[in-house]
Amino acid sequence: MKNTQIIGMGHYAPERVVTNAELEKWMDTSDQWIRERTGIERRHWISEGEKLEDLAYNASTMALENAGLRASEIDCIIVACIMSDYLFPGTSALLQARLGLPGIPAIDIRNACSGFVYALSIADKFVKTGTYKNVLVVGAEVQSTSLDLSTRGRDIAVIFADGAGAAVVSATDDQNKGVLTTHLHADGNFVDQLCMKKPSVNMRPRLGKELLESDEIYPYMEGRHVFKHAVTRFPEVIKEALEATGYSLEDIDLLIPHQANLRISEAVGKRLGIAPEKVYSNIQEYGNTTAASIPLAMSEAAGKGLIKENDLVCLAAFGAGFTWASALIRF
Ligand code: COA
Repeated sequence: MKNTQIIGMGHYAPERVVTNAELEKWMDTSDQWIRERTGIERRHWISEGEKLEDLAYNASTMALENAGLRASEIDCIIVACIMSDYLFPGTSALLQARLGLPGIPAIDIRNACSGFVYALSIADKFVKTGTYKNVLVVGAEVQSTSLDLSTRGRDIAVIFADGAGAAVVSATDDQNKGVLTTHLHADGNFVDQLCMKKPSVNMRPRLGKELLESDEIYPYMEGRHVFKHAVTRFPEVIKEALEATGYSLEDIDLLIPHQANLRISEAVGKRLGIAPEKVYSNIQEYGNTTAASIPLAMSEAAGKGLIKENDLVCLAAFGAGFTWASALIRF
């Protein structure tokens, strides 16, 4: 059986940088509060005219170049993102057209912050079963336009941001390298703790004047509840990956958790006894970019030389749904 290797990675964040100080202009918040509670110092937001598709495309072309592959060598595209430039079809179709690849499958995954690990897991199965040789797996997200920038929405507005990351995964005969295991979970009992309810398909008309006044058109999060679940689920799903492969926590060279909140990543590292330098964090620069956060962090870490040949890297995610997931990869 083939194995699945990550042969190239890329990432992209919009040029527009929004500092914590800039947020203070719109809402009652402070740089100090945001840094202390989340670790975030700045984030990137799209500018007028910039699209989610652009972010996905830029990350993808970097990943292809990094892999040394032409776009035409990709057999399948899987894109993880909560929302899309169009309500339908999803971003994968837009990206497929932009890359000039008509005919190959374009799949959308909507599992929020766990989306990239879900997408990687699906790509892994396609490759291992010999269905496709080269799969482009993307996490891309534009959250900035959905935020309530008044004080009412400050708990969420200071956290979420825009970005994209991509990985080219490819079939290899080397059984000791590549995606060793993936684990996916969800518990829909918690949909209401982290969600955005409107506009909804069950409304006629879907868009009305009164809707613009409703706070249901903005993301909603029970922050403390999410925090509590995240610090339990992350360690659980990381241990699950280790148990499935016979590795121990000491074997992990780099843990790349979804960049939800620096305090969550630190708490997870502490609970597991993983040294802080082995837990990758770039939330300071990008905020929480939901499905984009893991591939963006993984590509950035690789670019900094933090992922070397033979390193054991663990990806771990938690997000809306709730969903949580992990992947263990030997590079
Ligand atoms: N600036 C200033 N004050 C803020 C604020 C902001 N941006 N957002 C909330 N506050 C206020 C609250 O109104 C509250 O004020 P009060 O005490 O007068 O009522 C106070 O700060 C504390 O709020 P609380 O929600 O209890 O803070 P917290 O320590 O739980 O931190 C989060 C809030 C959102 C940072 C934290 O709960 C968190 O990170 N949760 C997980 C979020 C996450 O990771 N989501 C993504 C999952 S994928």
